[in-house]
Formats: sequence, structure tokens, C-alpha cells
Amino acid sequence: MALDRDPTAGSEAQAPLVAVEDLVVRFPIRTGGKRQFITPVDHVNFTIGAGEVLSLVGESGSGKSTIAKALVRTVEPNHGTITVGGLDITHIGGRQLMDYRRNAQMIFQDPFGSLNPVHTVEHHLAFPVRKYRRAGRAQIDYEVGALLERVGLTPISEMRVKYPHELSGGQRQRVAIARALAANPALVVADEPISMLDVSIRAGVLSLMNELKRDLGLSYLYITHDLASARYFGDRIMVLYGGKVMETADSRELLRRPTHPYTRLLLAATPGNRHRGPLPEVSNGAPDLVEGRRGCPFAPRCPAATAICSAEEAPTVEVSPGHSVVCHHTET
Ligand SMILES: Nc1ncnc2c1ncn2[C@@H]1O[C@H](COP(=O)(O)OP(=O)(O)O)[C@@H](O)[C@H]1O
Ligand SMILES: [Mg+2]
Repeated sequence: MALDRDPTAGSEAQAPLVAVEDLVVRFPIRTGGKRQFITPVDHVNFTIGAGEVLSLVGESGSGKSTIAKALVRTVEPNHGTITVGGLDITHIGGRQLMDYRRNAQMIFQDPFGSLNPVHTVEHHLAFPVRKYRRAGRAQIDYEVGALLERVGLTPISEMRVKYPHELSGGQRQRVAIARALAANPALVVADEPISMLDVSIRAGVLSLMNELKRDLGLSYLYITHDLASARYFGDRIMVLYGGKVMETADSRELLRRPTHPYTRLLLAATPGNRHRGPLPEVSNGAPDLVEGRRGCPFAPRCPAATAICSAEEAPTVEVSPGHSVVCHHTET
């Protein structure tokens, strides 16, 4: 399968690379011997354009990783559709799924956990080059060198022979990025790729991902719980809480005009924000994800909540073109 990411394909209204419609993922859980379902992804809609970065922001437990897994189809959705490059991948399997996974690569939070300690950097990269490009030995050698150079792991000859434990966290994440690139993907799903790295090396990894977007026309779903990096890297930002989308907008617009009470609280808790304050805890604890819950999942913590918020589904209000807010109390 070839995904369309031709940068010369013209600027006329193109179908987005990724279109997610009404996505629902449910998991069975057991509470006190009783079988119930939780819905960490609850009727979620979004698109990602070719060459676009969508930042997905939300605190822990809001369903971000489950959306990522649905997108690379390590989890099969219970409802809705996911279309990537014109292909409906919602329920594909077998050969089709293997082909799809080459085009949609994932980068994880913990680069140490995603690399095999007994294999060298060379091995980690040669494997996907051989698998996906069916290259011969000399070609593999060349491609591995080019990938290392591409992600800034030099001198190449020294880096090839290193084992994961001989690398820094940032270098390990660069190996994971190079491995994703080896498959020549159109879409990269990066699930909190810098949150386990030292603060001093985060910017370097993020700017590498930015260069790859620019030079290779890659599209990303970039998952983070930090609005500052979401803004830096993302063209658009989608804010998630309790499995539901709270607000979506162009990155600059979202930070200039945060409208959903949850987005405002997140922003207030962002270091360096001039309105910085503590995240008010109206009630603490994780959002209720149990199937059948009603109203807005943020209502129990929301300083602006009224009775309707915990009783009825909030409407989606478009406050300006491309800026939508899911809240009962949004004024346009
Ligand atoms: N395979 C699973 N089975 C049951 N519950 C799960 C499974 N995967 C995730 N969850 C639950 O779904 C919720 C959302 O998880 P996740 O998508 O990892 O959120 P985030 O990445 O935003 O922290 C959590 O309550 C988590 O415990
Ligand atoms: Mg997660």
C-alpha cells in the first residue's frame, strides 16, 4: 500500500491523511467481581493532514495511548472508522494490517524499553531495512549509515556497534526514531516521546522530529501532557479529558484563546505561563470512564460546572473557524 504524501500533489482541498470518525474503544474491567466496561475513547473525531502534526494533550488516564494504539491498530476499535491514506483500516487484519503498520510507525515513551539490550544499534536498524526494503547487504549497510546520519547519531562507525546501555536516553530515542524511519512511513505516532528524557535533551529530540516533518513531509500524532511542547511541535492541538475531546484548534489560537475550562486549567499549570497557578482540584482522582456515565467527564472537577453538565452531553461549539469547544457554557 502506498500512502499519498506527495508534497507536490497540489494545494487543492485534499482528503486528510488520517480521518478518525466517531471512534470508540471499550475495555472490559472487573470491579468487585462484577464485569463492566470502560470507554477510554468515547466518540472521538479528528483528522491529520499530510505533513501536519496534531498534538494530543491531556493528563494521565485520559485515553491518549489508547487512541495511539487504535491508530497503529494494535487495538481494534469497537465503533467508528479510521481511514488512513484513503484506506479504511478500522478492522483490517493479516497481510493488509502488516502493510499498513509499515506506513504507520510508533515511537514510545521509554526508548530503553523499546530497544533490545542484547542487540547493537546496527542490528536494530538493519532489521527493518531488510524487512521493509528487501535490500541486499551493501544496500543495508548504506541505509543504516544514512539513517544514523539523519537522526544525528555520529560518528556513524562508532554508533553502529553500540548497545542500548551505552547510549544516553536522548541517543536511544534517536535510535527508536531511526528505526521508525527505516520503514519509510507516512505517519508517525509518537506517544510522549520526550517525557522520560532529561529536560536538557528534550528540545533536541523535538527539533529532530520537526526537521523530519519538514524534510520528509511526515505527518504525526504527537502525544504529550505538556501544552508547551504541544504548541511548539503541533500545527493543531486537540485536548482530551476522560476519553472525550474537550477542545481543538490551531496551536497558536488554542494558546491565545483557550476556551474550555479544562484547557484553561491545563494552561494555568504550564511552567512559564504568566497566569500560572495551581491546578484547582474541585474533586481529585481520575476521570470516570465507566460506560454509561453521563454528561461531560470534566464536570466533577470543573469550576464552571452547573447541573446540566453532569446530566447532558455537551454540544460542540465552533468559536471561530477550526476552533471547536465541547462545553455547555461556551459563548460564541
Ligand atoms: N488493555 C486495557 N484493558 C483495560 N483497561 C485499559 C487497557 N488499556 C488502557 N486501559 C485503561 O484506559 C484508561 C486510559 O488509558 P490510556 O489510554 O493509557 O491513557 P493515557 O495515555 O492518556 O494516560 C486508563 O484508565 C487505563 O487504565
Ligand atoms: Mg499514555
